[in-house]
Amino acid sequence: MKGRIGPGGPVCYLGSVITLGIETSCDETACGLVDSQMRVLANQVYSQVPIHSEYGGVVPEIAARAHLEKIDPIVRMALAEAELELDSVDQIAFTRGPGLLGPLLVGASFARSLGRALGKPVVGVNHLEGHLASAFLEDPELEPPFLCLVVSGGHTEFVQVEPGLRFTLIGKTRDDAAGEAFDKGGKILGLGYPAGPLVAGLAAGGKRDFTAFPRALEQRDNFEFSFSGLKTSVLRYVETHDPDFVRDNLSHICASLETAIVDVLVKKSIHALTATGMDALTIVGGVSANGYLRERMHAEAKKRGFRAIFPSARYCGDNGVMIAGIAQWRANRGLSSSDLEVKPSLRWN
Ligand code: KG4
Ligand code: ZN
Repeated sequence: MKGRIGPGGPVCYLGSVITLGIETSCDETACGLVDSQMRVLANQVYSQVPIHSEYGGVVPEIAARAHLEKIDPIVRMALAEAELELDSVDQIAFTRGPGLLGPLLVGASFARSLGRALGKPVVGVNHLEGHLASAFLEDPELEPPFLCLVVSGGHTEFVQVEPGLRFTLIGKTRDDAAGEAFDKGGKILGLGYPAGPLVAGLAAGGKRDFTAFPRALEQRDNFEFSFSGLKTSVLRYVETHDPDFVRDNLSHICASLETAIVDVLVKKSIHALTATGMDALTIVGGVSANGYLRERMHAEAKKRGFRAIFPSARYCGDNGVMIAGIAQWRANRGLSSSDLEVKPSLRWN
């Protein structure tokens, strides 16, 4: 029998398909459980950030070893959170890429072994599609077509999502991702890793026009981004100002940095919506947790009459729920997953 008997008597998940999702593409070991109503039954994330922070970034070999140690306990914790036994799981989804090869291999082989042991199907999921699923979790009524802005530590791109979950990449960054702009800019300012949330925290009380960092390609009539000049500009700023001045004005400098990044993301989104004729925009990936980006995008949405959909904060960063979610969303519509091969890939498809 599937599911559990609640105190009130009824079986909670009876008749529902349950997908277990495993995420190990970078520095989070995560497992999520989602049912066919897209209800989240469990969300367990082990963050390796404390392990990598002393190196100022993710060390792939160390990440792979930590995934190996944590994947089994995290899956057990997710099942315990949902109060489910392993044999209640109907399909297993895992991140097949893009990501770091060693970490991806850990998740892939764990998922494959689990599938074999249980006699259940195993589905390879694209990590970016996973982020996209976090928008479906937020708004179960959401159906393509819509535009998606993926903003994470490794990606910044516009994806046009058509019915049948067909994706067209319409533009991306030429160099650094928005998350990297936060992380590298913050690192130059002496903040820890990942600096994105720290920059955001300091920026909250700062003057946004304290200094003008560049907004590359902002006025260009395309869907591309370029953030590498921003870190050079922050470096130049730090080199040409007294260290005490920089320290005393850190929140203003962070506010100026955050504003430069968000300005470009918002402007380009409006341009992309206008050019594609779409009236809904989902904003997903780690940087979508940024409060100022949310505030600005919601204000533009209200003014211009489009829908801006952000995942709830706990599903912005890497997690297993989004991996289970996209596999479940596809299964609900009779769509096969992007690739059924249990083989990690470093590319989009
Ligand atoms: O999606 P994610 O968890 O991992 C990747 O797939 O890259 O994104 C991580 C990125 C990091 O660059 C981190 O600094 C950034 O998301 N980030 C933020 C915030 N929270 C996370 N950037 C700005 N503001 C935030 N609140
Ligand atoms: Zn991610």
